Amino acid sequence: MTNLIILGLQWGDEGKGKIVDMLAERFDIVARYQGGHNAGHTVTIGEKKFVLHLLPSGILHPGKLCVIGNGVVVDPKALFQEMETLQQQGISDVEGRLFVSARAHAIMPYHRLLDRAHEHELGTKRIGTTGRGIGPAYENKIARSGLVISDFLNESLFREKLQTNLAYAKKIVNDDAPELSYDSLCETYLNYGKQLRPYVTDCSLLIDRAIKSGKSVLFEGAQGAMLDIDHGTYPYVTSSNACSGGVCTGLGIGPTKISGVLGVIKAYTTRVGEGPFPTELFDQDGERLRERGGEFGATTGRPRRCGWFDAVVGRYAVRINGVSKLAVMKLDVLDSFPTITICTGYRYRGELISELPMEPDALQECEPVYEEHEGWQESTVGITDYESLPHKAQTYLNRLSELLETDIAVVSTGPKRDQTLVKDGSLF
Ligand code: GDP
Ligand code: IMO
Ligand code: MG
Repeated sequence: MTNLIILGLQWGDEGKGKIVDMLAERFDIVARYQGGHNAGHTVTIGEKKFVLHLLPSGILHPGKLCVIGNGVVVDPKALFQEMETLQQQGISDVEGRLFVSARAHAIMPYHRLLDRAHEHELGTKRIGTTGRGIGPAYENKIARSGLVISDFLNESLFREKLQTNLAYAKKIVNDDAPELSYDSLCETYLNYGKQLRPYVTDCSLLIDRAIKSGKSVLFEGAQGAMLDIDHGTYPYVTSSNACSGGVCTGLGIGPTKISGVLGVIKAYTTRVGEGPFPTELFDQDGERLRERGGEFGATTGRPRRCGWFDAVVGRYAVRINGVSKLAVMKLDVLDSFPTITICTGYRYRGELISELPMEPDALQECEPVYEEHEGWQESTVGITDYESLPHKAQTYLNRLSELLETDIAVVSTGPKRDQTLVKDGSLF
């Protein structure tokens, strides 16, 4: 197994950062292919906690190359701020290891304003975005007028494109906003351009050459399958292809170069922001999941909505991503529950269904059908061997695997690197 995709199978925050960090040692390159600094990937190394937003989680491993692909939207200000934070945490060798695609689109201050204005306009139907300008930056890209990273290295082109974009943004948002001053934007962002120069690369070529010379690549997904623009709970989604298909378009590589897909999934479900969530809990169990799981957004600090494992969502996510193996995360969070529930199907318009309905908004109307499992009620924290897990925990995991028709390769029993169980001693 050489080039592996790691992606989330629910609504994000599954624990992708931990798994990427754990596996990065075995790969030469870690590459992001979509999303932006809306992501929050937590990596705990010893007593130190790092939260990566835009930088691939491989940046914490000395010597590993990290790529931000053309499918990512890059806020230059956020990028340099994150590099500075990492430097304060002792990671200072980023230059020379980080490569940013010349074709990646930029998030500009007006995108943040447009994000806010759009949410305001939607009122009670708002998406609950991270407010980072992600949607408007991708809109700008699809409208064929966005600024790409290489534009920052070409002053006249930058000035011309900025003028058009600003004129457009000013039609929608308050044009007195200091963020919309043409002169100050030119000065600040052309300066970012100078700082970006050493990182700007043809990332497709870099990855192709690396693979041809026998190097291996880990593709790090952000968000999750149910937040994918095409396959998620539209319109309550993010604006990129978080699914495995996004790897090819978001990095400029072909599907024949991908060797496998590791689907990261929590042993229960969470969601941040608005949108349908059939197994959401509003009772003490939900509160307990939030507390025990520390379910507060890594990017915005918002409390995450919590609920039981949804096998319909899981099976769907396995299908649309071609998942080869599963990494089941946060098993330890369920340790104290006397009863643990799994959603195996939905009641939808009077019928029992076991697949997601085809209409993107139909999930709103789905009522979960549950099966109950006895909880194990003992600690699994830090267990690294499958046979040492409580018997009832094994039964629960075996049932998840059966329902998703996919083998489990990894079980996570705590946030730290070594609180991880790799089944049968091998991943693939
Ligand atoms: P990501 O966005 O998919 O990388 O996930 P986040 O970092 O947003 O959220 C996952 C959270 O769960 C982080 O705080 C991790 O440190 C934590 N975590 C990961 N795996 C485990 C686990 O097995 N057990 C517990 N208790 N916490 C975990
Ligand atoms: P990671 O990579 C969880 C959600 C937002 C909102 C919707 C759209 O850490 O798993 P956006 O700002 O992208 O336009 O917001 O998507 N969202 C995430 N939820 N984890 C994430 O990333 C998310 N990134 C975006 O809460 O509902
Ligand atoms: Mg996260």
